[in-house]
Amino acid sequence: MSVYILAIESSCDDTSAAVLKDNVLLSNIIANQKVHAQYGGVVPELASRAHQQNIVPVVHAAMEQANIDKKQLSALAFTRGPGLLGSLLVGVSFAKSYAYALNIPLIDVDHLHGHILSHFIEKETLPPKFPFLCLCVSGGHTQIIKVNDYFDMQIIGSTIDDAAGEAFDKAAKILGFSYPGGPIVDKLAKEGNPNAFVFSQANIADYNYSFSGLKTSFLYFLQAKLKENKHFIEENKNDLCASIQKAIIDSLMKKLIKASNDLKINEIAIAGGVSANSGLQRELVCLSQKYNWTIHIPTLQLSTDNAAMIGIVGYLKYIRNQFSDILSVPYTRAIIN
Ligand code: KG4
Ligand code: ZN
Repeated sequence: MSVYILAIESSCDDTSAAVLKDNVLLSNIIANQKVHAQYGGVVPELASRAHQQNIVPVVHAAMEQANIDKKQLSALAFTRGPGLLGSLLVGVSFAKSYAYALNIPLIDVDHLHGHILSHFIEKETLPPKFPFLCLCVSGGHTQIIKVNDYFDMQIIGSTIDDAAGEAFDKAAKILGFSYPGGPIVDKLAKEGNPNAFVFSQANIADYNYSFSGLKTSFLYFLQAKLKENKHFIEENKNDLCASIQKAIIDSLMKKLIKASNDLKINEIAIAGGVSANSGLQRELVCLSQKYNWTIHIPTLQLSTDNAAMIGIVGYLKYIRNQFSDILSVPYTRAIIN
């Protein structure tokens, strides 16, 4: 018998609901919150309110697009953490009441598991083979994870300060772009020269990352240039975006290459919002030829936050009888280690 999972994701600033039939995606509705753009970052209280407004229509739309009846649902999966507490509470409370009303089991899902296991949603290409390395890069995470099995994973490298997405967003903010700046930098970088300017990259031990120095070096460089020419940013926008993007990608890839060489793992996946970056994807394709990697790149819809990735973990837990309790509460910090 088929398993139907309704999944809810509300950990940060996207309200999303998805329906899966086993590992096949039937619908994935995402409501982005535009309200944060003018503040240069996510405002937690505004995010919670927007989730509260969006959750019911988003779930309705997901059920309608999947074209199934509520009575067919086998279980309800929800993001338990990590994320913003107020945002998580909206999804968790909604999931509990909906599951209780329908008398179906609840499944709690870790957001990071979702990003990594999104590669197991049915698609034309084969999923990653275990063990694989996953570079998980988003607004909140920058990690290299060794994935031994679906629920056996180990973080082998992490950022010690900013996440890669934050580095993109902070550089974009310095350039005067709205939040989230990552996709804007990506777009402008396409017309720029990545070697026009060189920014200092951190030299951190093992497979760890640091991006705060890069942001400071970008800021000081621009402050000096703007003193000489107040139109410097406007006149060099594309080259600046291409150069800062290159600095972020180079430092991400350096550690990924090291991890792949040291651990002798050639199966490489990327996940999280920054994995949508076209420069990062291009570089990964290049490296896959050089190092004989088999690479796995999520579609745009599955790279940034979405409930489909929560649904696939829900399905994988459902078939293992791993259910959650009605008393479960959200957590705000990562639990994988
Ligand atoms: O995974 P995600 O949607 O949310 C978190 O879990 O954080 O990632 C959002 C992050 C933001 O920092 C955003 O600027 C970045 O992903 N991002 C990008 C691109 N698309 C999204 N960064 C660079 N290039 C992109 N195309
Ligand atoms: Zn995420």
